[in-house]
Amino acid sequence: MPRLRVGVVFGGRSGEHEVSLASAASVIAALEERGHAVVPIGIARNGRWVVGGDPLRALAAEARVALPSNDADGAVKKALADRAEAVESASVESLARTEPAGSLPPELRQGLDVVMIMLHGPYGEDGTIQGLFELADVPYVGAGVLASAVGMDKATMKAVFQAHGLPIVEHLVVARHEWRRAPERIAARVAETVGVPCFVKPANLGSSVGISKVRDAEALADAIDLAARHDRKIIVERAVRAREIEVSVLGNDEPIASLPGEISYDGEWYDYSTKYLEGQSRLTVPAPVSPAIMQKLRELAVAAFRAIDCSGMARVDFFLEGDRVLVNEINTIPGFTATSAYAKMWAASGLRYSALVDRLIELALERHQGKGGAP
Ligand SMILES: Nc1ncnc2c1ncn2[C@@H]1O[C@H](COP(=O)(O)OP(=O)(O)O)[C@@H](O)[C@H]1O
Ligand SMILES: [Mg+2]
Repeated sequence: MPRLRVGVVFGGRSGEHEVSLASAASVIAALEERGHAVVPIGIARNGRWVVGGDPLRALAAEARVALPSNDADGAVKKALADRAEAVESASVESLARTEPAGSLPPELRQGLDVVMIMLHGPYGEDGTIQGLFELADVPYVGAGVLASAVGMDKATMKAVFQAHGLPIVEHLVVARHEWRRAPERIAARVAETVGVPCFVKPANLGSSVGISKVRDAEALADAIDLAARHDRKIIVERAVRAREIEVSVLGNDEPIASLPGEISYDGEWYDYSTKYLEGQSRLTVPAPVSPAIMQKLRELAVAAFRAIDCSGMARVDFFLEGDRVLVNEINTIPGFTATSAYAKMWAASGLRYSALVDRLIELALERHQGKGGAP
């Protein structure tokens, strides 16, 4: 591949800000190893652009590297910690320039060949920044506006999966205003359709933020109130007793699926701290399942990817309840360090991290060229 000018966008306004910094640190190292010129583009928690100088260092210093990430060998943590330590007392402004959220900084306008959007959660994974790059006519890695938006909204995602005949967990979508108006009626509906135990989730977050497991009917109200603080739409879902399996998908019109990986952890469910504290969870690739289940997982991963009209990459997460495979969710910008599940499943399937990054760039350029219906 020729040497390209690659913009990498990271940080952002979501609860997954630090995870994004870790993803970006890994990607920048891989891009530089491949000989590309990297233009780092940060977004602070308040939405301001952080550009020029060393935005990753600036944001890492600000985050004081309370660093999460499933960073098994600690490489990313170390890279970011080094950056942060060197500037313990420095301000963001001394390391980079900030520009208002509503502007388009010159770094975004000046001859980028392609952009890697390494943001997770709202304002990054949900189609908003993808729309900005569509308007600016800059190719970007990963899902387009529609697939990003559908993938971020659990209610719409489930409706689309259902319409495509994909197996999902029984659930109910509750509007916050209905809950506030008639909580008894909603509670009765939950009891009739989903029952307890159940999971209550805001429709639009990630990283398990705002999610609760409800063990008895009395706990339902608090769980819905919590989810309602994060979103207008709330999902109530039957609690399954299941293994958790993930599959990485890569491609545009002809996506391929990696070997599946199984997530295991000691806690009761895969909550925020289990996800991001070191040593709390493990990934086994390939997942120890029968060849038939493995086949099914890979087929369903590709089907879920196609169902939302995804492109580039996605990680599809499943529940395996006995022999029943259920699609839990699709993540259009999964955690993307070299030791994240997405990359590990590809590595186990024969695709190294730096080659994966190059392939994603190729796919972004291909998609950009094919836009508008040209054959
Ligand atoms: N219906 C369910 N039954 C059992 N566990 C669940 C259910 N829904 C979610 N969980 C647990 O909560 C975790 C986070 O839920 P998920 O829907 O994947 O949200 P997020 O987008 O925050 O990752 C899952 O990985 C799983 O451990
Ligand atoms: Mg999840």
